[in-house]
Amino acid sequence: MQCKLISVCMLLAVMMVFSGCESKKTSQGDNEKMITKEAYGQVGGKAVDLYTLTNKNNLEMKVTNYGCTVTSLRVPDKEGNLGDVVLGFTTVDQYVKESPYFGCAVGRYGNRIALGKFSIDGTEYTLATNNDANHLHGGIKGFDKVIWDAEPKETDDGPAIVFTHVSKDMDEGYPGTLNATITYTLTNANAFKIEYSATTDKATHCNLTQHTYFNLAGDGSGDVLGHELTLLADHYTPVDAGLIPTGELKAVVGTPFDFTSPHAIGERIGVLKEGVKNGGYDHNFCLNNKAGSMALAVKVYEPKTGRVMEVSTTEPGVQFYSGNFLDGTLVGKTGNKYQTHAGFCLETQHFPDTPNQPTFPTTLLKPGETYRHTTQYKFSVKK
Ligand code: GLA
Repeated sequence: MQCKLISVCMLLAVMMVFSGCESKKTSQGDNEKMITKEAYGQVGGKAVDLYTLTNKNNLEMKVTNYGCTVTSLRVPDKEGNLGDVVLGFTTVDQYVKESPYFGCAVGRYGNRIALGKFSIDGTEYTLATNNDANHLHGGIKGFDKVIWDAEPKETDDGPAIVFTHVSKDMDEGYPGTLNATITYTLTNANAFKIEYSATTDKATHCNLTQHTYFNLAGDGSGDVLGHELTLLADHYTPVDAGLIPTGELKAVVGTPFDFTSPHAIGERIGVLKEGVKNGGYDHNFCLNNKAGSMALAVKVYEPKTGRVMEVSTTEPGVQFYSGNFLDGTLVGKTGNKYQTHAGFCLETQHFPDTPNQPTFPTTLLKPGETYRHTTQYKFSVKK
C-alpha cells in the first residue's frame, strides 16, 4: 500500500517536472477545466509566458503576454471538429522579428495618425513615425511589442486573463501616463471577449484595438476570398494614397464597400480602386450603431466549414483589412507560407486619424475619465 502511494507520488512529481507548466484548475460542473501557463521564451532578456484557456465546450485559446498576442484559437466546424482559425507563428522570436501585427493588442492608437502629429489645447505633440511619414498602431514600440503583466482569472463567464501595462508619459510621443487594462475571456458562450479600459494623468488620445487575423476555414488553408461578410455600416471613411482618411463619410451604397447584405470578400475586391495598395480592403467602416452600447457589427460565414463569426462592439468603427500586405514570405505555425489575403482582420475602434479630424467621434481622454471598449468575436456554425 505504502509502496503504491510512493510510486504514485513519484509519478506525479515526474509529471510536474516534465510538463514544466503551472496549472490553475477550476470546476465547471462535472468537468475540470483549466487555464495553464507555460514558458514561451524570452524577449529582451525577460521571460514571457503562453497561457492556454479552455472553455466548458472545449474551445481553446492560446495567448502570450508579449503584446497580449493570441497565437491560436480552436473552434468547431459544422461536423464538430475543432480547428485553429487564427494566423500566427510558432515561436515568440518570430513575433518579435517579423509579425505584421498577428493576434496582438494595438495601442495607444489603432491605425494611422497623419504625419504623427496632433495638438491638444494648443500644444503640438510629435509621435514616432513608422509608416512612411505617418504614425501606425502606436508607433515603433506599440502595445503589441511590450510584455504585459498577466493575471489568470476564472470567471462565471469563462476562463480569462487580465493584462495590465503602464505606458509612461511621452511613450512614443504621447502625453500622459496611461494605465491600460485588457481582459481576454474565452466565454462559455463561445466568444473571444475583450474588455479594454485606460486612465491617464494628462489629456491624451487613446484608441485600443485587437489585430487578430482570422481564416475561418482554418489557419494555412488558403485565402479568405470565399468568406461571406455582412458589415452593418452604411458609410465608410475614404482614404488618400497614404491610407489617411480624407474626412468624408461616404455612403457605401452602390460601391464595393457595401456589405450591408452578405457578399464574398473576393466578389468585388478586383474592382477596388481607392487607397488600396496591393489591392484589397483596408478601410474603416462607420458602424450604424451609435449608442456606445454592445451591438452586432459584423457577421462572417465560411461556406466549406459552416463556421460563423459574429463581431459585436461598443465602438463606432471597424477597420476591415483583407491581409493585403501578406506576400508569401512569412511562414506560419502550420508550415504554410502566408499568401496575400490568407487572413482578414476586423479591428473595432474609433476612426483612424481622429486627433486631426474634428468631425469624427473623439478619442481624447482626460484625467478623471476612463476609456472603455468591449468587443467580442462569437463563434457558431450554420449547417
Ligand atoms: C492595419 C492597417 C493596414 C496594415 C495592417 C498591418 O489593418 O490598416 O494598413 O498596416 O494593419 O499590416
